[in-house]
Amino acid sequence: MDVTVGRVLFSEEEIRNKAKEVAEQINEDYKGESLYLVGTLRGALVWMADIMKNITLDTEIDFIVASSYQGTDSTGVVTVKKDIEGDVTGKNVLIIEDIVDTGFTLSKLLEYFRGRGAKSVEICSMLSKPSRRKVDIDPKYNGFVIDDMFVIGYGLDYEQKFRNLPFVGIAELK
Ligand code: IMP
Ligand code: MG
Repeated sequence: MDVTVGRVLFSEEEIRNKAKEVAEQINEDYKGESLYLVGTLRGALVWMADIMKNITLDTEIDFIVASSYQGTDSTGVVTVKKDIEGDVTGKNVLIIEDIVDTGFTLSKLLEYFRGRGAKSVEICSMLSKPSRRKVDIDPKYNGFVIDDMFVIGYGLDYEQKFRNLPFVGIAELK
């Protein structure tokens, strides 16, 4: 299958403005607390950078690699391929994700961090596709809700390509 970039769904400017708005809400909600941001590699990288620049709280960052995806289809089996390096005991973990699709990945990660004694665990996703949900996951912080379509760019890939696009675009499958 061949993939090309279709129309732009969200421009860099729109995403950055949204990240600022979301980060301001986070600053408000966690006032007086510190934050432990966990980015899901590799997709959340660009959104995470936009979010963290606007966070004014005491913040640490870490990364995790969890994977369930093959091509454009989720398998439902989520594995942690690279663990975080720090200790989240007693910390406010905020998982930064690129997109919530079926919800399998995040349900697994929520369970994972809760089981490690985090004080709180929440999700901050750039995009969400609620119509595709198979498990009941609703990110507390979310940039944009989209319909059931496959998107690429701004960190999101199709078979590891297109992550470098400075916008979110619709993938055209041929
Ligand atoms: P879930 O476990 O089905 O919620 O899948 C979440 C992961 O699937 C995301 O972190 C992405 O890596 C990938 N994914 C889901 N939808 C898309 C998409 O439209 N474009 C690119 N990757 C996607
Ligand atoms: Mg991902």
